[in-house]
Amino acid sequence: MKTTGSRLSDYYKSIGLNPVGHDISREDRLTVHERKRQNLLEHHLRLPRFGWRGARVLEFGPGSGENAVALARLGARFTFVEPLDYLSDRLKTTFAEFGVSDRIEAVHQGVLETFRSKERYDVVFAEGFVHFLEDHAAAVKRLLSFAGDEGFVVLSDIDPAGTFIEFVKKCYLERACAALGLRAPEQRLEMARILFAPEFARINHSRGFDSWAKDMVLNPLYRPRYFLDLPTIIAAAPEDVALYSSWPNYLDADDLIWHKNVRSEKSMRAAALNGYYARLPHFLHSVPHPEAGLPLFTPAQGRRAAAALGACYKRLDRALERGAAPAAVLEALTGLRRSLVPARNAKLALRVVDDAAALFSSTRNAKTSAAFVSAWKGRTFLRRLWGTPGHYVVLHKTRLYSR
Ligand SMILES: C[S@@+](CC[C@H](N)C(=O)[O-])C[C@H]1O[C@@H](n2cnc3c(N)ncnc32)[C@H](O)[C@@H]1O
Repeated sequence: MKTTGSRLSDYYKSIGLNPVGHDISREDRLTVHERKRQNLLEHHLRLPRFGWRGARVLEFGPGSGENAVALARLGARFTFVEPLDYLSDRLKTTFAEFGVSDRIEAVHQGVLETFRSKERYDVVFAEGFVHFLEDHAAAVKRLLSFAGDEGFVVLSDIDPAGTFIEFVKKCYLERACAALGLRAPEQRLEMARILFAPEFARINHSRGFDSWAKDMVLNPLYRPRYFLDLPTIIAAAPEDVALYSSWPNYLDADDLIWHKNVRSEKSMRAAALNGYYARLPHFLHSVPHPEAGLPLFTPAQGRRAAAALGACYKRLDRALERGAAPAAVLEALTGLRRSLVPARNAKLALRVVDDAAALFSSTRNAKTSAAFVSAWKGRTFLRRLWGTPGHYVVLHKTRLYSR
């Protein structure tokens, strides 16, 4: 039987959720949205605006299509694969409203795992869902299989280090709900609002609080099993595929290498992995240091922190199953703390871990909603940070590097 849904889309459908509906209903809001997309795609991921003219794009999981419409207005032609019909209906309406329906080549109801096509595309998009799939390597390989010669794959993931603070939030919410006996989805959402909505309102978000909460901290699939990191993506990509760009930029350490010394994709991959590990503890907090820059770690130090983070997540995940009891959470955090060396480089990451520990330890005996709220408000450092949960990676299927 042909599968048209995934566990993620089944979850969305069960609660009627449009996880990332951007409001582009007014001209000024559309402009803001287009600027954000330009900032991501052109400034960070180096995919220039003129390149969309006439480009053939395959997008998996477009949702209600606001991202795509911005590129259609620049001349891109789209094929969509989306499991949820209520989202692709909305997408078609959005394209019609902006007078770009003729830029849609096809809309398929389906999923990446089973989609088949003989066509090859200039750019393949998969934003916001690949991490939730069971087989990450197979997903990356499938995405690449639809890109033509010189084609790109743009994918986003939930990075394990980048999403640490959000996962701490999920654990804290679980702990509060367990202690207060809040079981109904509406009660849990209300508790999430009370705790996290004030700081959410302060950040430059694109979707509403409820959508974020239902897609992340309340999403039963938002578990470490479904986090996805650069090493896994790189390992899954065939050897002749290069990492073209990323956000955060894992590749920025080598700009003093003379541009006439052409690098192989193998050395670019190695440089990307080193760049990823060299800043991995900083992904925990996302505090930018534009003037001085944050001190780098050696790749070996970053790898140790990544391994400790993996072990920490295993424990946190088990703790989550049992209401995120403080003792279990604190034990999980201890090993991660020890791995953040040298401590002088990891000051901010250590503060994140210490704040998380203080949060759970101060609510050991909490029995009221007010106690949970007041402890959360007291963690002024952790409370204001969001980490770097969604990383972007652009893979390039180019023949030139290997020659
Ligand atoms: C979090 S939303 C992201 C929407 C949009 N790409 C964005 O970034 O704003 C995830 C989207 O992926 C779709 N989706 C879920 N599982 C999928 C799968 N296995 N294959 C293709 N799309 C999927 C969902 O229905 C939803 O539209």
